[in-house]
Amino acid sequence: MSALAVHPVAGALGAEVSGVDLGKLDEATVAAIRRAWLEHLVVFFRDQDLSPAQFLAFARRFGEPIEYPFVKGLDDYPEIIPVLKLEHETINFGGIWHSDTAYLERPPMASMLIAREVPPAGGDTEFANMYLAYETLSPGMQRMLARLVAVNSSAAADVSRTREDRIKDSARAGAKKEYVAAHPVVRTHPETGRRALYVNVAHTVAFEGMTPEESAPLLQYLFRHQVRPDFTCRFRWRPGSIAMWDNRCAQHNAINDYQGHRRLMHRITLAGDLPQ
Ligand code: SIN
Repeated sequence: MSALAVHPVAGALGAEVSGVDLGKLDEATVAAIRRAWLEHLVVFFRDQDLSPAQFLAFARRFGEPIEYPFVKGLDDYPEIIPVLKLEHETINFGGIWHSDTAYLERPPMASMLIAREVPPAGGDTEFANMYLAYETLSPGMQRMLARLVAVNSSAAADVSRTREDRIKDSARAGAKKEYVAAHPVVRTHPETGRRALYVNVAHTVAFEGMTPEESAPLLQYLFRHQVRPDFTCRFRWRPGSIAMWDNRCAQHNAINDYQGHRRLMHRITLAGDLPQ
């Protein structure tokens, strides 16, 4: 096993993992990375010059890559989508706090990005810890939320806008107009056994059995609470940087502060289970 080292990047979540070449992983190193990922929710790697085939092989060490519903993947690698913003575009893909595709019945366990082209400044990604978001609620609020189910839709206006540019040039054939899934507001992580808040401002439109208007006041409170700065970390990309995050207990937000510049990442998501 190589000299793997794990350095937390913030108090809430996130760790940089060094001393590994992700193109050449042995079983012990994969197990150590998985342990660090479960503990820190998102792990970052630097200077990993992986081809699409190597990136996919790395992803397969941790789970089963799946296709994203709305945007076509690379020609030879349908599980890898380009997360691209062109110089003249003003809205970025994923520029809203969310957990990936929470509107699917089985949302992805994990997602990973490798940076291919980064703007001279800006274009960072923020992450937030949903265990902390849950654990810092009062016992009364936790008891109430434990009984609630959230309705998640792919068609909410703010998140739909963030994929419009890519749907114009790279729409995936066969995508439904809208995906909707109901999931518990508080889910239990199948590997750590910890509880996490599982609503997000991009996809959660109501509590099951309630109207959007009735749901809005409590949802708005939770959306603000769950991304408190002390629950977050922020990652500055360089070409060859990789982030791998756990969608079951973390959210992310791509910051849109690099107008006039191009940014290209490749993204893979890994199959998940039914949130419980
Ligand atoms: C995403 O939401 O998957 C994109 C995140 C990013 O581009 O930083």
